[in-house]
Amino acid sequence: MVMLHKFWHFSVVMLGLYPLGGYADVPHDKTATYDIENAEDINELCAGCHGRKGQGGKGGIYPRLAGLTPEYMTRQIESFKSRERINLPMLPYANDRELSQQDVHDITHYLAAIDLPTQLPRSSEVIDGLERLRQSKSIVQIGRYPGNINQGERIYMEACRACHQRDGVGRTDKPRLRGQYTQYLKKQMHDFKKGTRQHVDWEVKFADLSDNDINNILAFLSILDD
Ligand code: HEC
Ligand code: HEC
Repeated sequence: MVMLHKFWHFSVVMLGLYPLGGYADVPHDKTATYDIENAEDINELCAGCHGRKGQGGKGGIYPRLAGLTPEYMTRQIESFKSRERINLPMLPYANDRELSQQDVHDITHYLAAIDLPTQLPRSSEVIDGLERLRQSKSIVQIGRYPGNINQGERIYMEACRACHQRDGVGRTDKPRLRGQYTQYLKKQMHDFKKGTRQHVDWEVKFADLSDNDINNILAFLSILDD
């Protein structure tokens, strides 16, 4: 009985406080079916770098995957496979033998469905220290990035909003930027600027953005999850 009671209590804590996860409003098809067991097996591989809950790690060397859309992640894995987007750490996995189309379907739907909290639950009394430590490891809190937020917002609203959305949540194949590690986004933007990763051309091209512009956009993006 005691065990049961504890378990019940724990579930209430999980269910009661987790839906605030910052990615809940991502518009992807949450009813799509996928093989959860296969996805969990595959996730063992991915977790080594991207974390067990797809929360990413090493300050953004490994991007957060939880809550990105299946459409976007599938497209990225395909471009890793074709070497259009270079990703040395993922080279051993980015082929059809290691990750079949079915595997890609399963793992991307699995990761897309994970809602990560952006803050620790407030009512800490009911959670013991170890549980709290476990929870704190799956929280992604984006620290404020130094830069001119107003300038960044101005560029963002003019040149990025059409695809990544006003609040940075993205849609389908246009990735969510809000809640992603700043260092990771920074690397991607410089890759776009150098031309080592392709971004869609729009009125403002990455090549036209100065390092300062990029820092200001990052400053703006870093406060969206606050
Ligand atoms: C050895 C480390 C490692 C492993 C294991 C790994 N990844 Fe990655 N992954 C990376 C790195 C590093 C990047 C970012 C590359 C860059 O900076 O452009 C990345 C990027 C990605 C991206 C693109 C994210 C974005 O926002 O564009 C996806 C999707 C992804 N990984 C999926 C997976 C999946 C699924 C697995 C498991 C099958 C996996 N990765 C296993 C290191 C790893
Ligand atoms: C016309 C639509 C469009 C516009 C406008 C746009 N983007 Fe994107 N962006 C995309 C798409 C599509 C991708 C994914 C590219 C790919 O498939 O690799 C992307 C990818 C990115 C990524 C990589 C995210 C990741 O997880 O790896 C960043 C960062 C980014 N865009 C920033 C910006 C910024 C900053 C602006 C404004 C200066 C902007 N984008 C304007 C469509 C757009």
